[in-house]
Amino acid sequence: MGRLNGRVSVITGAASGIGRSAALRFAEEGAIVVVVDVDESGAAETVTLAERTGATACWFTSDVTDSADVDRIASEVHQRFGSLDILMTAAAVSVGKTIPNTSPDEWDKVFEVNVKGTYLWMRACIPFMSENGGSIVAVASQLAVSGGLSNAAYIASKGAIVSLCRTAANDHAADGVRINCVVPGATQTPLLDRSFARFDDPTPYIERSISRHPLGRFARPEEVAEAALFLASDDASFTTGSELRVDGGWIGG
Ligand SMILES: NC(=O)c1ccc[n+]([C@@H]2O[C@H](COP(=O)([O-])OP(=O)(O)OC[C@H]3O[C@@H](n4cnc5c(N)ncnc54)[C@H](O)[C@@H]3O)[C@@H](O)[C@H]2O)c1
Repeated sequence: MGRLNGRVSVITGAASGIGRSAALRFAEEGAIVVVVDVDESGAAETVTLAERTGATACWFTSDVTDSADVDRIASEVHQRFGSLDILMTAAAVSVGKTIPNTSPDEWDKVFEVNVKGTYLWMRACIPFMSENGGSIVAVASQLAVSGGLSNAAYIASKGAIVSLCRTAANDHAADGVRINCVVPGATQTPLLDRSFARFDDPTPYIERSISRHPLGRFARPEEVAEAALFLASDDASFTTGSELRVDGGWIGG
């Protein structure tokens, strides 16, 4: 008996990295997995991997900023599977720049995907979750709490996600919808690789980042997925409005 047996879960950004790991972990625990991503081939690959665990899985190629598409997919999932129990919002983009170097268009793009995309998916799912209860896991970042370097829009967007989840948790507790954030430290994914690739010589930046984690390494996406599973499952039945750090000690270090 899996910890998510028969639960219908939507995971945005699940074509890659943390979202993919969570989709596969949820599948192993018996969830029906719905992958949402702009990357069609990556999404299809996640579904293939999830199906190998015996899970029911499908994907939608969709942009989390497209409000009509978000509503359409949530309705279709609810109609096809009969409920919508879990939402994990992992889709995100990053522009690694200071404020003066960030153009207004770049700022808007980061907030559109990271914050509005989270809001739109929560908005589409909460009414369905209010029928039988549900769990929402948003992916924030340790940088939302500690600050960081040369990544203003991204870090501000992650702070907004933490605030959004805290207030939404209050608003929807009475509906039986729990809403929490998982707060990863630097995690070995394509997003992290891209963020270091912006430096001519990334090595000192990689070493500095590793040394900021008292555990002395980056996270594996599977480690973040394990925390997301906890928050998504009934194991976290009295946990809402919280941030679960999976940061190798970064924030306390
Ligand atoms: N990797 C890290 O070090 C790290 C640290 C803290 C938090 N996070 C967060 O974890 C989450 C997952 O990041 P990751 O590292 O796995 O990155 P990733 O780049 O591997 O995965 C992100 C996914 O989001 C998808 N995506 C981007 N824009 C989209 C859009 N508009 N609509 C739909 N899908 C879209 C991408 O196609 C990709 O598949 C993000 O929220 C990120 O901010 C990552």
